[in-house]
Amino acid sequence: MQPFSAVQRSHIANFALAELAYNIDIFRILTMGLPTSIGDFEPPGTQRAIVADKDGTFIVWDDAPCPPITPDQIYVKTEAVAINPSDTKMVGDFQSPYTVLGTDFAGTVVAVGSNVKHVAVGDRICGASHGMSELRPDRGAFGQYNVTIGNVWLKLPASMSTVAGASLCAGLCTAGLAIRSLGLPMPDAPVDKPFKVLVYGGSTATGTLAIQLLKL
Ligand SMILES: NC(=O)c1ccc[n+]([C@@H]2O[C@H](COP(=O)([O-])OP(=O)(O)OC[C@H]3O[C@@H](n4cnc5c(N)ncnc54)[C@H](OP(=O)(O)O)[C@@H]3O)[C@@H](O)[C@H]2O)c1
Repeated sequence: MQPFSAVQRSHIANFALAELAYNIDIFRILTMGLPTSIGDFEPPGTQRAIVADKDGTFIVWDDAPCPPITPDQIYVKTEAVAINPSDTKMVGDFQSPYTVLGTDFAGTVVAVGSNVKHVAVGDRICGASHGMSELRPDRGAFGQYNVTIGNVWLKLPASMSTVAGASLCAGLCTAGLAIRSLGLPMPDAPVDKPFKVLVYGGSTATGTLAIQLLKL
């Protein structure tokens, strides 16, 4: 992976606010309604996606809901997804029928909200979603389309494949949140004098990302 630029470092630091961004997003959509288009782009009405059926099994459904788009979001045609442990835990009481599953996605940008900077149609990005959410059944990664949440996305460099990029976002959010919660320096504020940090479970996907963030 190439070194991150200053903009990317700042963006990675913002990942720590992922949960907050999601909750603000939900509040705004519930209270202010759902915009349906950006410029000439009209999101499709339905999409093919992996959802939970009424009996608890997972099925591919061609009539799954498609997310709307707001001015601070990016609309993405999904080209790769990653499976997280959390996806495998969406069973029993955690399931909501006909709600899209999945957390991590990557793909090509098909529309950009007017408030979003540093990205254009045709760029490749990765992002993370709160799949299997009763509040937002259209917001799972495992569908043909995804929308971004707040600043929780990264433009993929030419050196990184879309498949590799799909594995980044939830892990970066989690590692960033942990680093910030522990009061450790974030990637956009490197320290002058290095010090040691123990990453317990450092060989997991999330652990390796935490190590990389700490080394920045
Ligand atoms: N709270 C959050 O926001 C959040 C976000 C992301 C992750 N997490 C949690 O962080 C942990 C790591 O997630 P990840 O995505 O980084 O996972 P991961 O890369 O898939 O790593 C999971 C690790 O657990 C090992 N493992 C699985 N079952 C095991 C067993 N029965 N006994 C011993 N080792 C076992 C796997 O070993 P093998 O490779 O040998 O199979 C693998 O090394 C998970 O518990 C996940 O739920 C939490």
